[in-house]
Amino acid sequence: MSDEKLSNLLQENRTFEPPADLAAQANVRAEDYERATADPEAFWAEAAQKLHWGTPFTQVLDWSDPPFAKWFADGKLNVAYNCVDRHVLTGNGDKVAFHFVGEPGDTRTITYAELKDEVCQAANALVDLGVKTGDRVAIYMPMILETVVAMLACARLGAPHTVVFGGFSSDALASRIDDCGAEIVITADGGYRRGKPSALKPAVDEALGKVSGVRNVLVVRRTGEDVDWTEGRDVWWDDVVAGASPEHTPQDFDAEHPLYVMYTSGTTGKPKGILHTSGGYLVQSAYTFWATFDHKPEDVYWCTADVGWVTGHSYAVYGPTAMGATQVLYEGTPDSPHKGRWWEIIAEHKVTIFYTAPTAIRTFMKWGREIPDEYDLSSLRILGSVGEPINPEAYVWYREVIGGGRTPVVDTWWQTETGAHMITPLPGVTAAKPGSAMVAFPGISADVVDDRGQSVADGEGGLLVITKPWPGMLRTIWGDDERFKDTYWSRFAEQGYYFAGDGAKKDDDGHIWVLGRVDDVMNVSGHRLSTTEIESALVSHPKVAEAAVVGATDDTTGQAVCAFVILREEAGDGGVDIVEDLRTHVAKEIGAIAKPRQVMIVPELPKTRSGKIMRRLLRDVAENRQVGDVTTLADSSVMDLIQQGMSGTK
Ligand code: WT7
Repeated sequence: MSDEKLSNLLQENRTFEPPADLAAQANVRAEDYERATADPEAFWAEAAQKLHWGTPFTQVLDWSDPPFAKWFADGKLNVAYNCVDRHVLTGNGDKVAFHFVGEPGDTRTITYAELKDEVCQAANALVDLGVKTGDRVAIYMPMILETVVAMLACARLGAPHTVVFGGFSSDALASRIDDCGAEIVITADGGYRRGKPSALKPAVDEALGKVSGVRNVLVVRRTGEDVDWTEGRDVWWDDVVAGASPEHTPQDFDAEHPLYVMYTSGTTGKPKGILHTSGGYLVQSAYTFWATFDHKPEDVYWCTADVGWVTGHSYAVYGPTAMGATQVLYEGTPDSPHKGRWWEIIAEHKVTIFYTAPTAIRTFMKWGREIPDEYDLSSLRILGSVGEPINPEAYVWYREVIGGGRTPVVDTWWQTETGAHMITPLPGVTAAKPGSAMVAFPGISADVVDDRGQSVADGEGGLLVITKPWPGMLRTIWGDDERFKDTYWSRFAEQGYYFAGDGAKKDDDGHIWVLGRVDDVMNVSGHRLSTTEIESALVSHPKVAEAAVVGATDDTTGQAVCAFVILREEAGDGGVDIVEDLRTHVAKEIGAIAKPRQVMIVPELPKTRSGKIMRRLLRDVAENRQVGDVTTLADSSVMDLIQQGMSGTK
């Protein structure tokens, strides 16, 4: 990486100290880092005491057969007992587990005691449908309470679930059902999105026309819309769950018993089924939830991620319920029925900890601060960010506009594969820098290395690696140990490091800045440039709401920077000089090398349903190719809009 670029990257030098009162009462303190560094296994063994173990473990880590780790291997536990029953048994049965908010405005508050009954009923219903320990169950649901109940019921039985995000197509669902050999599918007639019922059952019917082996489909009634029905296969949730006994004795399973499979897209080929197991995963998701968000019993916590993604698994289901947290679960979109919906929910439920994604924050920036300014957000005390690097402008806007300038923002770096937080500030300890994930979580060993696996010096960039096994790590790719070894462990096989697939840099203080996937890193005239960094520069321009940058093949420079930009509403069309203004702005912010070859003003960006920008499609546009497969876009018409809107801008 060039010196010029690094010095520009390190331009961001604002820091935000932890608020003194928060620091004084923080769950985790500076000394915990020292303790964890001195003996990570002892640290995790102690963290594991946050859980109830039916049989205590005697060995913390078994790394005798790398990269196949075993954590707490001779311990036994029941995940659902930890997430539900024990709170009831310790006198917290009346505590609210979830404030559910349906998109049409229906609400339901469920206590831990009620949740326990429903999880037991669902578990009994699944047993009646023939589900045995080890059988796989696919879950294809909207964001409703039954989704959480279904997951915990599977966990209770030791039947690994695979939750498929409700926005995925029937093909995607079919391939996942097939890959993990699910015998039962739990779904709903549909859910509500953008003011309308959005059907799910038809996609299940279609998927089951393509794969065999599914015995029953359990259908939750949510929208009341008509559904096709296959007699003998389809069963209404209400018919079998409501009447089932609320008594179910949980059995303890080995710590390494499979808990779930979560599919995530690789760079090529079919999605990878990331396998997480019980003990280590629950320890790390529960402990990091408690530490990163400084969770206290009286907090009201809201993670906006869909339960169909790993963030929803670790930070809306397993971590928070294991800690007995009170949560908000919201079914719909942020703009339905109006653009202040999220802030209205925060004000109404007095949410204290809020966890969302940079893409959402930038959308709100685009809509303007007048919207959140109308609501009382003073209950908030901690804000979290996850999913992609957060550009400093979005970070500061989040902190100031949503957090009223009081709230620490924790930028949490982790992956589907890591199971839980890996690199993040801690709100009571870390003086955070906007845009940096800062430091490895206590007990986690992360580094930035060069191509040969050597740790880079402070002030330099390289590849992000995890140098020691961690409790929540993926155990393998379902059914494909070779791909597991190859994808994550072959790049730095000699050192035995886990290769995360991200580029990162260490600043002069040794703090980590994650730059994004290495496949999104461009090489322009031999200089490595981060798409994120240029996007961040563009977004710092007062007229820009959102930006996506790709490296397009260029005869002269190898790759050239191409930027797609959405303007803020109040900027109108930006004026005649907008393209030149933005090119100059980037050159000024980062250096001439980063100056985009092209800037295209577009009305929308192509995003997957999880909010990730599909740069591949933008690269097709930038390279004047026919646009490739758009089926994983949340809205496939976006590419047409971009191409129409762009005519004449080149
Ligand atoms: C990739 C993992 C972790 C749950 C959601 C995404 C990027 C995630 C950050 C962050 C910079 C981040 C990385 C990572 N990423 N969080 N705080 N700062 N980058 O899970 O779909 O498995 O994606 O998301 O590139 O590798 P995922």
